[in-house]
Amino acid sequence: MTHVTPDSIFQVASGFMASKHLYVANEVGLFEQLADGPITLDELSQRTGVPRRTIRILADAMVALGFVDRQADRYQNGPVADTFLSGRTPADLRPFLRFWNRISYPSWTQLEESIRTSQPGVGHLSAELVKIFSEGVEAVSAGTAVALATTYDFSRHQRVLDLGGGTGSFLLAVLRNYPDLETALFEQPDVVAVARQHLSATPAGEQVSVIEGDFFQDPIPAGYDVVMVVNVVHLFSPEHNLALLHRIRERVSTGARLLLVDFWTDPTHT
Ligand SMILES: C[S@@+](CC[C@H](N)C(=O)[O-])C[C@H]1O[C@@H](n2cnc3c(N)ncnc32)[C@H](O)[C@@H]1O
Repeated sequence: MTHVTPDSIFQVASGFMASKHLYVANEVGLFEQLADGPITLDELSQRTGVPRRTIRILADAMVALGFVDRQADRYQNGPVADTFLSGRTPADLRPFLRFWNRISYPSWTQLEESIRTSQPGVGHLSAELVKIFSEGVEAVSAGTAVALATTYDFSRHQRVLDLGGGTGSFLLAVLRNYPDLETALFEQPDVVAVARQHLSATPAGEQVSVIEGDFFQDPIPAGYDVVMVVNVVHLFSPEHNLALLHRIRERVSTGARLLLVDFWTDPTHT
């Protein structure tokens, strides 16, 4: 008889505790404060402004989860936290954890209702949350942006349109490899405000035209020979996606390329 244990149930069912501890450690700046090397709980408490009793709970949870190392009474980042959560490297996943904490986690508390009713759980986002959303998506898709810009040959194109392009991070990655391209970002007005901030922080940002609009309602800008739709189709129903693809097709000439970048499941959805 196979030996069966309930371990996977405990692990999955309590997973939210580990997630929430990680988000809170990120929010209070624990990994940033440990970036300069080992420090004691008193120092950590002082630097984060969190009471000693509770920063101890958080720091020890991070030790248990493998993100922080403890030697006697001193704590320091482990290699994963050091590389992705300390804020000292270009591979910075802090905005992504903030996105999970402030947007995903609250909306997942409504999963049961969504499953039972087939209604989406995410409602309107405030300007503050739109910024957190856009910066979180930029952080998690940074590797994909570089991969696309280095594996797809954009040299055959002149004009690139990024529909639902977020902060413009994909276009900036493409411009780093193909600086002569003409590029445009099409986004909803509240995200455009965030995109303008990000683009103005880098010289190449000046090369990106920013167009405000709704790609289901407003005309898709014409005359582009490559159209990128990145991390967008997973948001919509098949009917909406077909409508969007038809709208794009009407506005491009023969030979234009559509670059669909997204999370894809296998055909069994398992
Ligand atoms: C998950 S984000 C992806 C952002 C970016 N492409 C990336 O991968 O980093 C989806 C984007 O689609 C944009 N979007 C959603 N509906 C839209 C619409 N109707 N018109 C224009 N943009 C839209 C959102 O504002 C959001 O920035």
